[in-house]
Amino acid sequence: VLPVSGAAAKFVAREIDKTVRARNAAGKSTVLGLATGSTPVGLYRELIRMHKEEGLDLARVITFNLDEYYPLPKEDPHSYFRWMHETFFNHVNIKWENIHIPDGTLRLDEVDDFCAVYERKIKDAGGVDIQILGIGRTGHIGFNEPGSPRNSRTRMVTLDSITRQDAAAGFFGEQNVPNLAITMGVASIMDARKVFLMAFGEHKAAITYKAIEAPPTEAITASFLQEHPDAVFVLDQAAAAELT
Ligand code: F6R
Repeated sequence: VLPVSGAAAKFVAREIDKTVRARNAAGKSTVLGLATGSTPVGLYRELIRMHKEEGLDLARVITFNLDEYYPLPKEDPHSYFRWMHETFFNHVNIKWENIHIPDGTLRLDEVDDFCAVYERKIKDAGGVDIQILGIGRTGHIGFNEPGSPRNSRTRMVTLDSITRQDAAAGFFGEQNVPNLAITMGVASIMDARKVFLMAFGEHKAAITYKAIEAPPTEAITASFLQEHPDAVFVLDQAAAAELT
């Protein structure tokens, strides 16, 4: 628990910086699993600063984003593809061919193959070294809504109505929020060697408490992280307020 979200973002950025520098020095790539949303904005800002001011070299970094709305064109103002490029990728030296984001433009009959290939690409890259997560008010990680099994993999999912309400402001109304998304699964996330789940603000306090202190359950997929060997919840005071 850190006093404010800015300090939390810096803490996670430093961890990524250390890993990337060590792996660069060994001539190895680093695989990052990335999230969108309001939570990781400060983290991306800090990584951009480290790249520009401190020579953090991301040329060997390979990224896999958690999720994307479906269907949605890449250039849509609400696409996570666009958000990631505007918020992070366009400001650092990650190579475009090392960026992977679930594709909201597929035909329905292409989705299953795409998801299987996505999983294989993660494996071929050596698996995720560091996975960044936020948490939704439904307890979702990625878009693994309540009921997502512990062994779920990258796939098409239906968004929970609470998640669509939370996205409504950005889409100018809930009726414009897609019903579907493509997301990495719970098992895809649990395979990462290290996980940082960030949660900031009092609106995250109740679900953060359940994710950390209630028994692991499909009803709150973030709670499965209790069983991960190296998962860290990075919280500000407000999000930690209900922990016992
Ligand atoms: C985003 C994602 C989601 C968000 C979660 C919290 O790629 O996978 O699980 O992390 O919905 O969103 P914010 O940070 O906007 O509160």
